[in-house]
Amino acid sequence: MNPASNGGVFDPSTPNAARMYDYFLGGKDNLPVDRAAAEQVLKLVPEIPVGIRENRAFLCRAVRFLAEQGVRQFLDIGAGLPTQRNVHQVAAEYAPGSRTVYVDNDPQVLTHARALLQDSPQVLVAEGDLRRPEEILHDHEVRAHLDFDRPIAVLLLAIVHFIPDAEDPRGIVARLRDGLAPGSHLALSHVAVDERPQAAPAVERVYNRASAQFVARMSGEIAPFFDGLDLAEPGMVNLHEWRPDIPVVAPVLETVGSYFLCGVGRVR
Ligand SMILES: C[S@@+](CC[C@H](N)C(=O)[O-])C[C@H]1O[C@@H](n2cnc3c(N)ncnc32)[C@H](O)[C@@H]1O
Repeated sequence: MNPASNGGVFDPSTPNAARMYDYFLGGKDNLPVDRAAAEQVLKLVPEIPVGIRENRAFLCRAVRFLAEQGVRQFLDIGAGLPTQRNVHQVAAEYAPGSRTVYVDNDPQVLTHARALLQDSPQVLVAEGDLRRPEEILHDHEVRAHLDFDRPIAVLLLAIVHFIPDAEDPRGIVARLRDGLAPGSHLALSHVAVDERPQAAPAVERVYNRASAQFVARMSGEIAPFFDGLDLAEPGMVNLHEWRPDIPVVAPVLETVGSYFLCGVGRVR
């Protein structure tokens, strides 16, 4: 666990990763301590809000794609504070009747999610920690809500970059994958620091004082998270390049390399 982590207790004096993300998205569920930390990150990586909006747009396109593949069950781990167009709302548009479980380890996220997202019998909000995937996979409430004998789409969006190598993130993702029925899918997005490796240590230092530790990874370290899956076209690419609704004529950001990678893989 991050030494600065509060162990799951609400702490208004420690910057919180979910609330910083909310600030980057233009939300109101954040405190001065979060805004100060987020502003430090923005000085180092000014394009973060664009990347985060692209990440939410990827979420919508990925859920639509998964619905088209026939998936009717969604497990969103590291769901974050509720915002616009959450997973179950997008799923309801393209696959009415779908069931969604939101998992997070942050008590404030869980409180808000229970109040705002658990709005129908199709939706469950559950406490869980990605670092202990078996506890999520075998949780009684989760298993009562989702049928693990049928395909499930697991969403790991902007969360794996908070799992340090010492916690074996590749092993965690593989154990999740192995707990799913064939035809299930895994959608994953992860910040890549290929474009700005020089900024990475300072960003890591800001998050080290926050509730979750950011781990800077290059694209070559992110690709193995998709091991053992059949990657849907176009493979692992920058967010805006993944099945865009309108053809991409120029990158949204003035970059040529990898800055925020994503992909969707099918469980064999
Ligand atoms: C940056 S937000 C991403 C929110 C959403 N998935 C998205 O992509 O828009 C990361 C979320 O992951 C949660 N998180 C971080 N580490 C976690 C862990 N080990 N287990 C469960 N949730 C975690 C945080 O509390 C936060 O809500």
